[in-house]
Amino acid sequence: MMSVVGAQPFIKPMQPSPSVSPGIQRRHTLPASEVRPLNTQDAISVFEIEREAFISVSGECPLHLDEVRHFLTLCPELSMGWFEEGRLVAFIIGSLWDQDRLTTDALTLHKPRGSTVHIHVLAVHRTFRQQGKGPIIMWRYLQYLRCLPNVRRAVLMCEDFLVPFYRKSGFKVLGRCAITVGSLTFTEMWYPISGHAYMRRNSEAIRFPQHPLTLPLAKTDEPVDV
Ligand SMILES: CC(C)(COP(=O)(O)OP(=O)(O)OC[C@H]1O[C@@H](n2cnc3c(N)ncnc32)[C@H](O)[C@@H]1OP(=O)(O)O)[C@@H](O)C(=O)NCCC(=O)NCCS
Repeated sequence: MMSVVGAQPFIKPMQPSPSVSPGIQRRHTLPASEVRPLNTQDAISVFEIEREAFISVSGECPLHLDEVRHFLTLCPELSMGWFEEGRLVAFIIGSLWDQDRLTTDALTLHKPRGSTVHIHVLAVHRTFRQQGKGPIIMWRYLQYLRCLPNVRRAVLMCEDFLVPFYRKSGFKVLGRCAITVGSLTFTEMWYPISGHAYMRRNSEAIRFPQHPLTLPLAKTDEPVDV
């Protein structure tokens, strides 16, 4: 299991001026930004974002609350949450899958021997959208997957209108997905996970190159224990 990927606050605490009250000083000691795996205690926050992002739009969502808890119990190391001052603003939940293509079983099962990470959901809190956070957490997550020894690729299914969004993150189209949900159909996409960073723990390769997408999350080059 991975250790928590520490993230330095990217907004430096302001230097309190002598006239600032102690209460305001305390407020600025809160961590501005943190990226860590989710746990079952985060499930409600996850589902609140899903409710707004999906259920209010289509009546469906990638993971219902019990399924969120299910995957955060079975494979929390395949999740990632981005918190701003303790508040969940974006997240990804994944599990392992062991076949070339996704089937309906992939919606509910975690296959610990699988080498494919099935990304069930990426979502950004409504008030934090259109700030680039979705691509940033996806990039961070894909970098993290390189540290997991048995992972060879990531796959996801998305509605067609999101294909350009995932292409920008490096995903390629696999084809139509066999899974349908009600009247919704999906495109299946994949991303190769190559160059396993854990094998180069002591080399410079572990130090992920600076990437513009990482700017708000300062500590992107931390080795991750697996
Ligand atoms: C889709 C989502 C994750 C995007 O995250 P975001 O942080 O708001 O992304 P941004 O708006 O900052 O956009 C980043 C880039 O993606 C593009 N993009 C965003 N949404 C897009 C969409 N629906 N279709 C095509 N491109 C899109 C933007 O144009 C932007 O491109 P640019 O950098 O070239 O300008 C977010 O809007 C969200 O959570 N939506 C609801 C849940 C959802 O649909 N999740 C995905 C399916 S599981």
